[in-house]
Amino acid sequence: MARKKIALVGAGQIGGTMALVLAQKQLGDVVLIDVVEGVPQGKALDIMEGRLSIHTSATLTGSNNYDDLAGSDVVIVTAGVPRKPGMTRDDLLNINYGIVEKVGTAIKSKAPNAFVIVVTNPLDAMVYAMQKVTGIAPEKVVGMAGVLDSSRLACFVAMELGVAADDVQAVVMGGHGPSMVSLYDFVSVGGIPLPQLMSKEKFNELSKRTAMAGDEIVGLLKTGSAFYSPGVSAIRMAEAYLLDKKSVLTCAAELKGQYGVNGLYCGVPVIIGSNGIEKIIEVKMNDEEKAAFAKSVDAVKGNAEWVDAKIKG
Ligand code: APR
Repeated sequence: MARKKIALVGAGQIGGTMALVLAQKQLGDVVLIDVVEGVPQGKALDIMEGRLSIHTSATLTGSNNYDDLAGSDVVIVTAGVPRKPGMTRDDLLNINYGIVEKVGTAIKSKAPNAFVIVVTNPLDAMVYAMQKVTGIAPEKVVGMAGVLDSSRLACFVAMELGVAADDVQAVVMGGHGPSMVSLYDFVSVGGIPLPQLMSKEKFNELSKRTAMAGDEIVGLLKTGSAFYSPGVSAIRMAEAYLLDKKSVLTCAAELKGQYGVNGLYCGVPVIIGSNGIEKIIEVKMNDEEKAAFAKSVDAVKGNAEWVDAKIKG
């Protein structure tokens, strides 16, 4: 069987992290593509030279040419500008749309059969734009945010309870912004429902921290936004696709009537396998959660309308 090819468009902080993790996991050969000359080549060569120590035979190359997207099984897009302190994700809309439009046009012509994972912010609008620009089926164009937001909540719960981080499962839905919705009843700790272990008041604190977790990292780093956790979260989605795992992950997916929403991308639990998004799972929420989710959908809607207007010119 031929090796899989994974293209990383954007060889910055997240792109570099993903290249290393992909190599370690031997999920396929990696091409890093960036507009900056030398950086993708340098990062690829740097990881190549460390392969003996991480026991991998994956090959990595760097490129400044979108032609190298050709033949990709998966394309992960982080091309764009990250936030600086004081900026919201929405502040990136205009500049990152221009970049996603260019990258999307290249994917459409060079890798139309790829599974496309968008990471660039503002996430829900950028994945929406990517689907419109490429015309690729929505099942194959997905946004990375819910995996990260859920992982952040799981991390805070594990820290609070003093339990293993990988024993905690969580679901955080909605848009990738301050309106995201953490679900109390859906957190499980080694299979035990969280309400048996933590008060709703404490959970609300952790839920607030989760919604602002990206800002917390931006405030600490000062020069950019989170990259390790976004990188590994996107790889989890790529792995589900490449290995046909049927993983249940919260991702930005195009809703077609589910949750009463039509034609918008928003974070919801989905099943990812070799066909991309194989199912959108409609979960039952209580009235408070439903109202919060509807508010989050509204926040996403404005940016999607902005993208529509931009595409219409
Ligand atoms: N084509 C390819 N790469 C591009 C393009 C383009 N048209 N425009 C910019 N890039 C590259 C930049 O040169 C840079 O190397 O995208 C890379 C982005 O990397 P960083 O600035 O390090 O940003 P990073 O932290 O990786 O975040 C990327 O993901 O989470 C989001 O908000 C974040 O939108 C940001 C994106």
